[in-house]
Amino acid sequence: MFETLNKTAPDAIVEMIKIAAADTSPKKIDLGVGIYQDEVGATPVMRAVKKAERLWFDEEDSKKYIGIHGNPEFNRLFSELTFGDGAEILTSGRLAVAQSAGGSGALRLGTELIKMANPGTTVWVSTPTWANHTPLIGSTGLPVKPYPYYNKETQTIDFDDMCATLRNEAKPGDVVVLHGCCHNPTGADLSQDQWRIIADLLIEKSLMPFVDLAYTGLGDGLDADTFGLRLLVDKCPELVLATSCSKNFGLYRERTGMVAAIARTPEEADLCRSQIGLIMRRMISMPPDHGAALVAKILSTPDLKADWLSELETMRLRMSGLRQSLAEALSVQGAEQMANAIASQKGMFSLLPVSPEQAEKLRSEHSVYLLNSGRINIAGARAEMIDGLADAILAVL
Ligand SMILES: Cc1ncc(COP(=O)(O)O)c(C=O)c1O
Repeated sequence: MFETLNKTAPDAIVEMIKIAAADTSPKKIDLGVGIYQDEVGATPVMRAVKKAERLWFDEEDSKKYIGIHGNPEFNRLFSELTFGDGAEILTSGRLAVAQSAGGSGALRLGTELIKMANPGTTVWVSTPTWANHTPLIGSTGLPVKPYPYYNKETQTIDFDDMCATLRNEAKPGDVVVLHGCCHNPTGADLSQDQWRIIADLLIEKSLMPFVDLAYTGLGDGLDADTFGLRLLVDKCPELVLATSCSKNFGLYRERTGMVAAIARTPEEADLCRSQIGLIMRRMISMPPDHGAALVAKILSTPDLKADWLSELETMRLRMSGLRQSLAEALSVQGAEQMANAIASQKGMFSLLPVSPEQAEKLRSEHSVYLLNSGRINIAGARAEMIDGLADAILAVL
């Protein structure tokens, strides 16, 4: 039977990681991998996670199944963190949540829920978007269409085109995927005014937001990074959220995330809850617990929570500091547009205005590793590399 299968094409990112690992140049700057790295290039287990693991090791008394919607304590505490302590939605009865296997698992559960509710709906994703959005959402069978988001030449958000496409081409009932913060791959986030305009447009056109929030706390801080989500929650009658603890708790391999559906009424939220349970059962039966138990422990233990917040803030400041340094180094050399773009973008990613050929030149001639699309992860750099990075970018442009 298996002879009928085709070999999948090699993954460009995995291939690049291998080439970067083999490069022994002292000048090497690896900006390819999409995970946080500290100033020595490591992605350590966060302090609060380590402490929570020690506590959990002693406290956990059973490995029995946890339930179809995952860890209830995690769901409650992570909802409070995401929607805001005391947020009206938490007690409205309109919110249905379930723990998921990472943000990707949440995206899948959310998409399946949308498909179950309206199998004909089209899902709109930004151009560009995270490389896995179209395959992940599209593989459920729902049609996926692009809306313009970022102009790589001007390095600004194509806001007018984005609104025009959604206004003129999307049909009532369609779903719009919006990156909550630290837009992957551009780092260019909507301003608060733009979020307000989008919220009005979604309501006017009866479109449903599907917010993907994978980098909370790594842009402008926990509350600021959820501004767009919370605005949509307040204004829109229905919403789906996929969120992740991979980046902000560093729990990548523990596969920890949450899917949430906001419905018009508590009765409809109950329907969402039961259908999410059914979808989970059919796909993986139940989400894994370890990461969720750690997050619940951290969020329910004041000193662990304080330590987590402080380390998260260190990570955020490291990235924004690197951004400012790179922007200054580019600005000194007259590259004002790129400098302004990089300085104003948020989180790990920026999209450099380079062609695939220029990206290749950066890799082969300067040992600067980035994706062909021009996406860089600023966390891959170190302070002492910044001037060399600016020189290399300007040399290939
Ligand atoms: C925009 C976006 N959404 C979701 C995810 C999912 O992350 P995970 O499944 O590891 O939690 C990622 C991962 O890079 C991402 O960039």
